[in-house]
Parts: sequence; structure tokens; C-alpha cells
Amino acid sequence: MAHARLTVLATGGTIAGIAGSALAHDYRPGQIDIAEYLSRVKGLGLEAEFSGRQIANIGSEDIGPAVWTPLHSAIQDALADPGCTGVIVTHGTDTLEETAFLLDLTLPCAKPVVLVGAMRPADAVGYDGLRNFANAARVASDPDASGRGVLVVMGDRVFAARDVRKVRTRSTDAFRGYPRGSIGLVTPSALDWFGAPWRAGDAARFDYASDLPPVVILYAHADMDPDLARRIVGDDQRGIVVAGVGEGNLPDTVRSVLVERRRQGVAVVRASRVDEGLVDREPEDEPNGFVASRALNPQKARILLQLLLASGVSDPAEMQAAFDER
Ligand code: SIN
Repeated sequence: MAHARLTVLATGGTIAGIAGSALAHDYRPGQIDIAEYLSRVKGLGLEAEFSGRQIANIGSEDIGPAVWTPLHSAIQDALADPGCTGVIVTHGTDTLEETAFLLDLTLPCAKPVVLVGAMRPADAVGYDGLRNFANAARVASDPDASGRGVLVVMGDRVFAARDVRKVRTRSTDAFRGYPRGSIGLVTPSALDWFGAPWRAGDAARFDYASDLPPVVILYAHADMDPDLARRIVGDDQRGIVVAGVGEGNLPDTVRSVLVERRRQGVAVVRASRVDEGLVDREPEDEPNGFVASRALNPQKARILLQLLLASGVSDPAEMQAAFDER
């Protein structure tokens, strides 16, 4: 393998978190800075060369365009640098899937971009952050990582950004890929890919937009109040993603609210609050002008809908094609 020169962009999270005691449950994410982190990484003796930059140092529940915009531009700078062979982004795990998918949709894929986090803070017994980082470095150093879009390494698994989702609140085995499962297995000494790269060409699928339009997620449940739903999907929203029950279903009274908003030009996507399973188009989607999220969960459907709206796409059929893509 050619010598890898990796740019590490740090945003915070538990991977840079400190509890103050090896056994404590509570801790503060985003405490170790990138210089300190890379000095700890040095002790691992990894083969790659690392250079680092701090983009933010926060818990990922606070991540949004104010971090995404400088992060996106720093990744683009790194990818354009002939001296950089790949990028690692350290990130909190709570919203890692959203950042990964946003980057996946808006970055070229000629060089590897890998997101990594940890479930335990850096001073905890059994800190998983250094192993995850060593695994991420192995993936980002592999030329075969290109052409698969943005990747996420957690535990000893590699996930595609489009598939990855956080499914456990505490376990170190907190991530799963749907529908593809993990696309590779990695340890600091071995990397196995399951299948070939699938992205045709290097180009980004969307232009990055720092002013993403407002899109709200409406969480469906039994005994839903349509008046409350009407207030949640207020006049200022350009799009609504429904975290529907079952296969993206809604009470009739709430569906009527959304049909009304759709007639006013608001985009509506039906996703599901269920962890796994496709949300397919149903016959009423055509007359209603609704879009089915297919394999995307509500939080990822929101990112895709925001990018579609930011690119000027308003036709539900064109939107549906983007949701159908892999
Ligand atoms: C966060 O998302 O910043 C906190 C949780 C974590 O990183 O695991």
C-alpha cells in the first residue's frame, strides 16, 4: 500500500470526551483538541502520516450548518491537495449519520473520506476511540475505499454513509447499516471489503448549500392531534418529513393537513419511525404529490430533501428518483 498522508478534521464528540474518572457514566464530549489527540495517535505507531485541524469541539447534538460549512470546505481543500491521500473526520456519534450523509451527497469520491467516533470517553475503561481511529486510518489509507462515497467506521465495521444509522444508545456496537449492513470489516491489521465500489464517476451528486431550507420532521403516533400537527408543520417550512407509523402511515386527519400543505407548495416525504424496512410508494402518493423515503430514515430523508430544495428541485417525481438512488 502506498504511504498514506491523511488529513484529520476534528469536530468533537465522545471520541474527544473526558469523564474525569475511569468509571464515571457522565462526561463532557469535545474536550481533547486535535493536537493532543494526534499525539495520542502517534503512540499507536500507525503507518500513515497525519496532519490535523480543529473545525469545532462540541457534542454532535449541536452540529448543523455552522459546523457543516467550514467542515465541507476544509474537506474540499484537503481533497484538492495532491499531498493528501484521504480524510478522517472525528465526530460525535449522535448525529454522525446526518453529517456523513450530507457529505456523501455533496463531495466527490475520488479519495476516501471516513467519519469516526467513539461511544466511551477518552479516559474511560475500555475507551473505543483509539481502536476506531486506527481502523478509520486503515480504511482511509486504502485506495479501494474510493468510489464508495463517504464511509463511517465504528467498531470493527465499515458502513456506507447512505446506510449507516445509530441503533444503540450506549453499546460500543452502536451502529448498523440498512439495507446493506456493513460493507467491510476492519481491524488495525486487516481490511476486507464485501463487494466492489459502486459510485460511477467522481463527481459530487449535489452542490453544497450553506443555507439549507427549513424542513421539519413530524413524528407520528397513536392518538395524534391534527391541530398540533398543523402547528408543527407551520407556514415557514419548505418541506415536511413524516416519521410515520409502519410503512410511513398517518392518521387520516393528519394526512389531510399534509395534503393541504402540499397544495401550498410544501414538499412532503413519507418515512418511517420503524428502524428497518423500506417505505414504498402507495397509490395515494401520486394524487397527493407525496414522495416515499424508501430506505432512508427520517433524519436522512430530511437532509436529502433539504439538498433537493436547495438545488431548485420541486417536482415530486424528480425527488422520488433521488430517494430511489443507492
Ligand atoms: C456526541 O454525539 O457528541 C455525544 C455522543 C457520542 O459522541 O457518542
